[in-house]
Amino acid sequence: MGETRSEVAWEKKEEDEEKEEAEAQVEIWKYVFGFVEQSVVRCAIQLGIAEAIEKHKKPISLLELSSTLKCDPSYLNRIMRFLVHRKIFKNISTNHDNYPSYVQTPLSRRFIRNGEQSIAALLLLESSPVMVAPWLSLSDRVLVNGNPSFKKVHGEDVWRYAASNLDHSNLINDAMACDARVVVPAIAERCSELFDGVGSLVDVGGGNGTTLSILVKAFPWIRGINFDLPHVIDVAPKCDGVEHVAGDMFTTVPKADAVIFKWVLHDWGDEECIQILKNCREAIPKENGKVIIVDVIIEEEGGKPNKYDDVGLMLDMVMMAHTDIGKERTLKEWEHVIKMAGFNTFTVKSIDAVQSVIVASG
Ligand SMILES: C[S@@+](CC[C@H](N)C(=O)[O-])C[C@H]1O[C@@H](n2cnc3c(N)ncnc32)[C@H](O)[C@@H]1O
Repeated sequence: MGETRSEVAWEKKEEDEEKEEAEAQVEIWKYVFGFVEQSVVRCAIQLGIAEAIEKHKKPISLLELSSTLKCDPSYLNRIMRFLVHRKIFKNISTNHDNYPSYVQTPLSRRFIRNGEQSIAALLLLESSPVMVAPWLSLSDRVLVNGNPSFKKVHGEDVWRYAASNLDHSNLINDAMACDARVVVPAIAERCSELFDGVGSLVDVGGGNGTTLSILVKAFPWIRGINFDLPHVIDVAPKCDGVEHVAGDMFTTVPKADAVIFKWVLHDWGDEECIQILKNCREAIPKENGKVIIVDVIIEEEGGKPNKYDDVGLMLDMVMMAHTDIGKERTLKEWEHVIKMAGFNTFTVKSIDAVQSVIVASG
């Protein structure tokens, strides 16, 4: 006698459960040792492995790499075995000797400090002891009446901490600059029309001015005003076409035709964002002024999947660990803060990056 439909369905359910169980048995280790990947990549950046391979200009053997970096080959071999397994470097066989030889991949090139598309400084910031410590208090943040994790560990918020710990401030500035070098060229290429007719542009929370330095090169008619807290402006490098101005965006924003924010509003809660955006509205011309927001848009549940969705959700956790009430926002949440600040319209542009470009006007 053939099986009934419910018997077939039951067997299928059991099969699915067994498969999930088998997957869980392996998957669980990813969470137990989640810190390992970041820590080993941090070690590789600190040793300068990617730079050494790049400089060598041909496959480098383990012994050559060990001698260049003054490393113990037996330890370096294990580090490289891990990184090759993660496909960060490639191991190719040569007739050179009995040891492996390594070459770069698109991933490992992103770990060359100050290289094109480098994300090394951002990784060094996120894996620094100062930024790792608040993660260990994350559960306290989530409790009713819980405390911001960064404040709990370091006694003040991340910006006050940076103002009195200039080494950490420099780590932040370098990390933000390396993201700017990746994202801002994409904005210039894909959203060039945004800068037509913009005579002056103020970058609020602009860090060391990297964003504006790229934009004034791409659009030389723009006069850039890089606006940030005094301790950041004090050490910002000089750049043609960019004036550095120190101040507090909660008090006032320098006047300009347009404002840009990159990775700033996500550091703050809705009320603060509305306050900052109101100050921007005061700073730009009523008729044709605009505010360009470069930040993550979290996809609503059931929305169109995007390859950066997971990064957006991770960044939301980063905001929870490192800021008081910052968060990544869905489009509806962005609409709320933009409208509450008095803007009538906004548009969204995708730039094939973690962040999108939201333009508020009216
Ligand atoms: C996450 S960083 C982003 C830096 C830069 N926009 C980028 O993405 O490359 C946030 C910046 O906001 C600045 N900031 C924080 N509070 C500020 C305030 N009250 N007024 C002006 N800038 C502020 C910080 O100093 C920091 O440079």
